[in-house]
Amino acid sequence: MSATSAWVSHFGLGSSPFSKEIDDADLWLPSSKHALVDQLSDALSEKASVLLTGEPGVGKTCVLRALRHRLPQAGFRLTYCHNATLGRRDFYRQLCLALGLAPSATAAAVFYAVSSHIEELGRERVHPVFLLDESHLLHQDTLDHLHILLNYEWDSRALLSVILVGLPELEDRLAMRRNRSLYSRLHWRLHLDPLVPDDTGEYLRTRLEAAGASREIFVSDAVAMLHEATVGAMRDLDRLASAALREAARKKKKLVERDVVARVIDRDSRED
Ligand SMILES: Nc1ncnc2c1ncn2[C@@H]1O[C@H](COP(=O)(O)OP(=O)(O)OP(=O)(O)O)[C@@H](O)[C@H]1O
Ligand SMILES: [Mg+2]
Repeated sequence: MSATSAWVSHFGLGSSPFSKEIDDADLWLPSSKHALVDQLSDALSEKASVLLTGEPGVGKTCVLRALRHRLPQAGFRLTYCHNATLGRRDFYRQLCLALGLAPSATAAAVFYAVSSHIEELGRERVHPVFLLDESHLLHQDTLDHLHILLNYEWDSRALLSVILVGLPELEDRLAMRRNRSLYSRLHWRLHLDPLVPDDTGEYLRTRLEAAGASREIFVSDAVAMLHEATVGAMRDLDRLASAALREAARKKKKLVERDVVARVIDRDSRED
């Protein structure tokens, strides 16, 4: 959405307030998210591997971005992998490309290239971190193999951290007998909860202020309704709050009240 959209200027904003294009430095970090970023950062300082789960749209990927912003550049090499739907060989080829290595033809050669690179970084005192987003989609043959990637010098050295991020069912899957070698190596198991009602108000306010709002736009009843409809998922909140702003602007209202939000929620649920 361009900054010149009629509804954006109707509310005196400089940009679309609920866009996903936020700079890492501008991410909203209430104390609950701050604590999570601290925990992730502690885990990486200990060279540990992590499981991070949460429902869709609660802000998992944004927490990874906040972590990227927070970690000292020197000392860590973060590699973000978002295509979890690949078979093992293509998964490692993707990893090679992300690491700037030439992907070799055979699975063994690709694996060797990745693990040699990790050992080399270890010698340079740089700790590599693989962020595997959407890990609930990982193929079983990739999951079967991941713990081998964490094994250096007879499993005596922690040269790599893996952060597996995904929906709550990822934890159920990892807890299965077949995946216990990997699961037992994920020493930090963190969960991102949906927003609580006060968070929802603060989130809306923070993002509106960042887009240039200088006054309240959503009345408190409207915020409560949005919270109830989204059960604390921010991506849904982005969609419904934007729709409510557009609807209020169409009706030439400067405040978003219950009736507008009720209409937007109703329309949204009928579209599903
Ligand atoms: N800390 C934050 N600051 C500002 N906006 C945020 C923050 N966290 C989430 N959001 C908003 O919520 C949207 C969804 O967040 P995010 O993509 O991180 O969710 P997710 O948990 O990774 O979802 P999924 O499981 O579907 O991948 C973002 O596009 C952004 O607009
Ligand atoms: Mg995500």
